[in-house]
Amino acid sequence: MKGLILSGGRGTRLYPLTYTRAKQLIPVANKPVLFRVIEAIRDAGITDIGIVVGETADEIEAAVGHGERWEVQITYVHQDEPLGLAHAVKVSQDYLENEPFVMFLGDNVLQGGIVELVQQFRASDWNSQIVLTRVEHPEQYGVAELNGEGRVVRLVEKPKEPPSDLALVGIYMFDPHIYQAVAEIRPSWRGELEITDAIQWLVEHDYKVFPYIHRGWWIDTGAPAAMLEANSLVLEELVPSVKGYVDRDSEVDTRVTVEEGAEVINSVVRGPTIIGQRSRIVNAYVGPFTSIYHDVVVENSEIERSIVLENSTIRDIPARIQDSLIGRDVTLSRSPIKPKAFKMNLGDYSQVGIL
Ligand code: DAU
Repeated sequence: MKGLILSGGRGTRLYPLTYTRAKQLIPVANKPVLFRVIEAIRDAGITDIGIVVGETADEIEAAVGHGERWEVQITYVHQDEPLGLAHAVKVSQDYLENEPFVMFLGDNVLQGGIVELVQQFRASDWNSQIVLTRVEHPEQYGVAELNGEGRVVRLVEKPKEPPSDLALVGIYMFDPHIYQAVAEIRPSWRGELEITDAIQWLVEHDYKVFPYIHRGWWIDTGAPAAMLEANSLVLEELVPSVKGYVDRDSEVDTRVTVEEGAEVINSVVRGPTIIGQRSRIVNAYVGPFTSIYHDVVVENSEIERSIVLENSTIRDIPARIQDSLIGRDVTLSRSPIKPKAFKMNLGDYSQVGIL
């Protein structure tokens, strides 16, 4: 069995962070979402993994490499344009070589992994198995309808009137019949070849499609609020460790991870929180559900329930920063130069909320 991770696409909903970075590489609790996906597939015993890449291919290949770090073999499949999830399957057909496979969307974070799903599918004679979970707003997802025997009878992509509250989580098991399905379907109203339509084709042609109901949390990290939510959930599950330096004047509770080379000086850090490698927290407060990535400085400032990416500096900010996503190489500070005013140098699509 092989694994296929979809990591193409553009990530416009996470602008400006994704102008210069693949959305799948944004870290949740200091680990890129894509790395978490690779680990989930590897933990299910699959070591041959293809990653579909698009315009952010170079960055993804540089970050992931050939997979030695996870003891897996990574192969890249290039998709020239993000023409849909079923299109991504089409371009991966040569790589997949008629083996059954698990397809996993590269921007999804799921509690508990996929070991049980892969075992169930391996032991079955089903043609496809799809992961479903109950959600409050099914109209934002692919939605499935089951019959009395628990078999999938209908699937619709982002329906205005959802037939159920069972959303398609971005994880699917397929056997090679999926290739015929993706060859037969036509583009949807949004101009994409939808995997949902391909699975519906399997259902209509009497192939066996069964659900796997996921009961833990699951987050599609496509939007900033979801990213912070995923960060909080993953931080809660992190086993804390302190490898960096915490001075005697600081107060760091038991749910805080301080990575190697990080320093906490005269500060209060409340967990669950992670302070990345070589970052410095000086005369500061870092509140719960915060991920400070590597080489960051937080000085004379307070921050809570936020994600700060690498090489950024937050210094002398008079009010608490909260529910924020701060990109790479950002400087947030008070200007000593008069007149007293907010001075900003923000990229396109930035959002700033001022007191
Ligand atoms: O997150 C679950 C949802 O994912 C499902 O409920 C939907 O049925 C499914 O269609 C999908 O919807 P999205 O609109 O959220 O998919 P998105 O365009 O965000 O793409 C998901 C991932 O696949 C993302 O990591 C980018 C990658 N991708 C996307 C397209 C369209 C590709 O690699 N190639 C593509 O052509």
